Order: sequence, then C-alpha cells, then structure tokens
Amino acid sequence: MSQTDHIGKGPNRVDGPLKVSGTAHYAGEFNVPNLAYGYVVNSPIAKGKVVQVHADEVLALPGVLAVYSHENVPHLAWFDRSYKDLLAPGGSPFRPLHSPDITFNQQPVALVMAETFELARYAAALLRVDYEQEKHETNLETKRTEGYLPGGGKLGYAPPPPPRGNPEKAWKNADQKIEAEYTHGAQHHNPMELFTSTVEWLGKDKITVYDKTQGVFNVQRYLTGVFGLSKDNCRVVSQFMGGGFGSGLRPQYSVFMATLAALELKRSVRVTLTRQQMFSIGHRPNTLQFVKLATNPDGSLASLQHHALHETSLFEDYTENVVNWSGMQYQCDNVKLGYQLAQLDVYSPQDMRAPGAATGNPGIEIAMDEMAYAAGLDPLEFRFRNYAERDQNVDKPFSSKKLRECYREGAAKFGWDKRPLEPRSMREGHLLTGWGMAGGVWDAMQMPSRASARITADGRLLVLSGAGENGAGTYTIMTQIAAETLGLPLEAVTFELGDTDQPQAPLQGGSWTAASVGTAVKNACDALGEKLLKLAQKQKDSPLKDADYDEVEFVNGQLRLRRDPDRAVVLRDLLQASGVTQVEAESTALPNMLKQNGYSLHSHNAVFAEVQVDEDLGTVRVTRVVNAVAAGRILNRKTARSQVLGGVVWGLSMALMEETIMDHKFGRYVNHNYAEYHIPVNADMPHIDVLFVHEDDDIVNPLGVKGIGEVGMLGVTAAIANAIFHATGKRVRDLPIMLDKLL
Ligand code: MOS
Repeated sequence: MSQTDHIGKGPNRVDGPLKVSGTAHYAGEFNVPNLAYGYVVNSPIAKGKVVQVHADEVLALPGVLAVYSHENVPHLAWFDRSYKDLLAPGGSPFRPLHSPDITFNQQPVALVMAETFELARYAAALLRVDYEQEKHETNLETKRTEGYLPGGGKLGYAPPPPPRGNPEKAWKNADQKIEAEYTHGAQHHNPMELFTSTVEWLGKDKITVYDKTQGVFNVQRYLTGVFGLSKDNCRVVSQFMGGGFGSGLRPQYSVFMATLAALELKRSVRVTLTRQQMFSIGHRPNTLQFVKLATNPDGSLASLQHHALHETSLFEDYTENVVNWSGMQYQCDNVKLGYQLAQLDVYSPQDMRAPGAATGNPGIEIAMDEMAYAAGLDPLEFRFRNYAERDQNVDKPFSSKKLRECYREGAAKFGWDKRPLEPRSMREGHLLTGWGMAGGVWDAMQMPSRASARITADGRLLVLSGAGENGAGTYTIMTQIAAETLGLPLEAVTFELGDTDQPQAPLQGGSWTAASVGTAVKNACDALGEKLLKLAQKQKDSPLKDADYDEVEFVNGQLRLRRDPDRAVVLRDLLQASGVTQVEAESTALPNMLKQNGYSLHSHNAVFAEVQVDEDLGTVRVTRVVNAVAAGRILNRKTARSQVLGGVVWGLSMALMEETIMDHKFGRYVNHNYAEYHIPVNADMPHIDVLFVHEDDDIVNPLGVKGIGEVGMLGVTAAIANAIFHATGKRVRDLPIMLDKLL
C-alpha cells in the first residue's frame, strides 16, 4: 500500500478547516461594496389577483430605493414562455412579478429595495397590496378522481413501464392478498442556510452572481435566458452551501429578484429569503398511493400493483419516479404501475432528497410487510423469496446487485434471527418493542462532465470543475481521486468547484456527482499524466523510454514502470529539469453507453430498525438502526457514512415528525417555521450502524462508484413504520406516525 492510495480511506473533509474557521464564504457573505438590500413581499392569498401595489407610500421613506412588482417590472426581463431551466418539467416555469395573477399562497408579489436590510424589511412590512380573492383548492383529497398523466417530465423522469402479465386477474384469484392506501403530507426543504443571492454589479450589464445553488451553470443559463445577458457578462459562483437536498437544483426566485434589482439599480444587490419564505420555494409533494399485492402458496408474489397520485401546480407538471422502483425491486410477472398528477393552487413541488423513491418506497415497503404478515412469513424471508435477479422493468440484468448481502449482513448485525414473528411480543412494562425492516433501490447515474488539471513546478496540483457542493463531501473525494491518480499526497492537491469560469459540470443531484465529476477528474488527471510521461521520455536516458501510459503508474510522487518500479522519475525533479512552469490538461467524461446499455444500473440498501412505543402515551422512540448499503466502490468511508447517517435522520423524520400542514381554508401552510415544522434533534436519534457491502462494478463507470447521497434514506421510513406495527399491532398508513395515530 503506498502513501498516495487515497480512495476508499476516510480522510477528513479537506474543506472542514475553512468551514469551521469561517473562512468558507457562503452566498450571503460576499460583502461587496455599496450593497443594496432586497426584501420580498409574498401573497397572503392562494388565488386571485393583485389589484394595486401602493408603492408610493414606502418609496417616501428615506433610504428606500425601489419597489418592483408586476406593475413596473422592467422590460429587460425576457419572459419567453418556452424558456426553461435544466430541470424544468412539462409546463411553463413560474415567472416572478410577471402578472397580477396569484396562483399560490406566499407567491412573491413585490421586491422592496433599500439601503439596509432592516429598512427593506420595515418597508416591506408597511407595503400595502390590494388583492381580489378567488376560491382556491389546495386539498389533494378533492382530486382523487381527477388525476392525469404528466405532459412532460424533467431530467431523469421515466414514465412507469407498461404493465406485464395480468395483475388484476392474479390478484382476484389469489387466496392471500392485501390492498391498502398510503399517504404522507408535503415536506419543505429547510437546510440551515437560507436562499440568498449577492449580485455584484461590475458595470455595463456585467455581473457576478454569488448564489446558493447546486448548479452554477443552470443559474447562468436561467439568468442569461431571462435577462438577455451574455455568458461572459454573467458569472455565477457557489463554492459552499449550508445544505441543499434538491432545493438548489432549480434557480429560486431570490436569484431572479436580486439580478433584476441589480440590473435596474446598476448597483450590487443582496436578496435573502426568511425562514418563513423557505416554505414558498417548492416541496416534496403530498402523495396518495394505492397498493395491491397477492402471493402464491409458496410465498412468491402473484401480483403487484402500485399507483401514485401527487399534487402539482397549475403551471408545471412536476414529475418524479414514485412507482417505477416497485417493478424492479421484486420478482413478479403480473405487475401494474400507475402515476398521475393533480393540479392544486400550490407552488410547483421540487426535488427533495431521493425524490419519488423516498415517497414510493414507504408505500411498497409497508405493503410488503403487510403482505408478509398476511402470508404468515417473516418479512425478511418474504423478500428473499421474491428477490429480483433481473430488472424486469427493462428486462436487463443488473450491472451489480449486492442487495442479498445487504439483507444478510444487516440482519446479522441487527440480530434479526431472534425476532418473534408475532406483534406485541416484546414488552417491558408499558414499553412495547418492535423490529422492522425494509429495503431500497436508487439509480446509479452519470452525467457528462468536464474537469481540468494543472501541475506546477513546485509539485502542486490544481483541479477545477464547475460542480456543485451542497455539503456532501465533493471537495474531499475529488481531491482523493486526483491525488491518487497522480500519486500525490492530499496536501499537494487543491480541488476547486462552483464557478461558471471553470469547466462545465452537471447539477449536483441524483447522487451522480461522484460518478460524473469523479470520472472527469480522473480523466483530466490521466490526460495530464500522459503529458508528464511524454515530458519524462524527452529527458536524456529516460528510464521510461518507450513505455506506454498503461505501463506506468504514479505513486508516492514518482512516475514509474509498473513491472519494474526501480525505473522511476521523481515528479518534481522532472518538472524542474524540464524547465516548464506548469503542465495542464482538460478532459470530458461521458457515460460509456456501449458498456452500460445491456444493464440496469442501481444502488441498493437494507434497513433494520428497533422502536420502543409507550403504550400509555403513544410516543415512539427509535432505539437502533442498521443501514446496510451496496453502492459500488466507496470513495471515502467517512463522508459516505455521513451521507447515510443523514439519510437515517431524514427517514426517521419522515416516519415520525416531518410534515407541512396546509390550512385549506386559507390555502396556506400553517407551520411555516422551524418551531412548528418538526424535524429530529440529536436527542431523537438512535444508535446507527452503517455497513458498506463490498460491491465491484466495472460497468457502471471506470471508478466503479454508484453514488451514496440518496440511497441511504430509503428503507428507513418503512422500517420504522413496520417496527411500530411489530411493537403495537397497529398498522399506520398515513405518515408521519404521530402519537395520536397510536392511541
Ligand atoms: Mo438531490 S434531491 O438530486 O439534490
């Protein structure tokens, strides 16, 4: 093992010291000179019209600079209806301040600009806006029979596969069957960092936008499209985020507002949303799910049907893959999957960690638990009997699938074999203990990416790619890949991201960054390595003369022949002897379609949970969770484990706490703050064991990595819900499971 083998180890975050010392700059911390501040005014009604904005009254306050609304929105904004950001689904993206029409509660209706944030906020509070109210509908229950197929999907959306076999007949004919409906409320992203944009005015319609975003190129595309700027005049920067979870995939209205004001005032501008306004930026949609399962006498699935209906806005067909996973998770020849949307007077939903899967997974995985009990089988044994060796949705083998090992290793760690099948069989006084399990599946995706690598005579390597970093550990894993490829210590490598001046990278989402940007980083470093080999071969009496690139390796600061490591050159000596100040290379990484085409590419996991339910109070405490994950090669054991820990936190939150509650009378989310939007704190969290199951995969990408950001959340919610059934004998099908549902 050499000192420059970094992949698979668990080094600390390279950006950790910057973050804890306050040296890392977030979007709202770029204190450019002469900043003006904006404060957004949001609609208190869910549907209707703005009749009048009484801007004059607040413009009279000294220090108030402007009030922008649909009444005076400048024509510099290019409102082409066909314009779309990279993740826009079917329909027409929301255009802030474009018209007097109100289509959802908390819709931004005005932007107040002032010399200070406090003054902008004060003036916004004084701003009178007259509305004409119309009747709204925000209740998904009223749209049960009005579901429709989406007119178009966003990037990554796949309509459910066509039905196979005869699921309804198989269900009717079966002796053992279940039929149930599963529901959960809406959820809103609440990362610690609020949405903020600081737009630096550089003169002549040239701006630099410091934005909170998971994709600087998407924001650049949006701003150049909407405001008619050239790319050269619109640089977008996002080096650090205080959490994203999908909320930063599409440009938010804050960046629209800040850019609008900067271009109008010809001045640098900052717009920051409040915590309450974070409930107006999109959400995980309120979803209804219907599941029918049936088994044959041997416990194999005879029929599987899963249908989902979720809310969307009036203007966009927000889509996510809710039911598709169910058709590949288990072996079954009679399958029907359905997916529909219903329009409500709400804002468009948006991606939230493991979008669609986090929703559909509890549906199918609670149903599988119910079916196991109906068939008299242990829930884990039931899954073994229905293990899918092939992806029947697309009729392809998996490139790799170590779910069986996840089940086995997770169960062994948890002690599942000691579980009594009967509910209510583990009791201590008024405390009922229950054990539940569930599994999950997520896509292993790769998006086109570019990266550059430059080594200087002092032996330092600088690697650039305009990727996003929502806090997942991107800086660290890219540093590891680059350092290992060129045989350098981590300290000799700097990786930078989040700037449209850098080589183009995809949005940070879908758990594809490690595979996509990681491969680009590897390719750029290999391209640089080839140049270094050529440079070495130009030296007099080079020990590497005639060597091909695949015959050499970079280890411990040396470039050497694999078969004869004594034939080596020291990299720094080489650079100095060559008299070059730097060597640079840039490369693109594309998914290898030829190799991947015959396979289904997915990551998997299995979760085991223990709960204690107080029978008198209905309170639930999760006491243990084991999460076993098969996601290809693990680049960094520490940051990967942290991703899975985060997934367990969120899965627990979805099971027990998290829900945005709509007051249908006003069409408004009533718990739009941190006090009443419940999420777990440290004291709510159990002991968590994270296991990474060994999984080799040279089909998915050259690094063999599948991504770890989303799969860790799957299975958690259902495992907890199933454990609650095992503890209490009560099956709760409406999440979150708050105590009133157990009393
Ligand atoms: Mo993730 S919801 O793809 O940021």
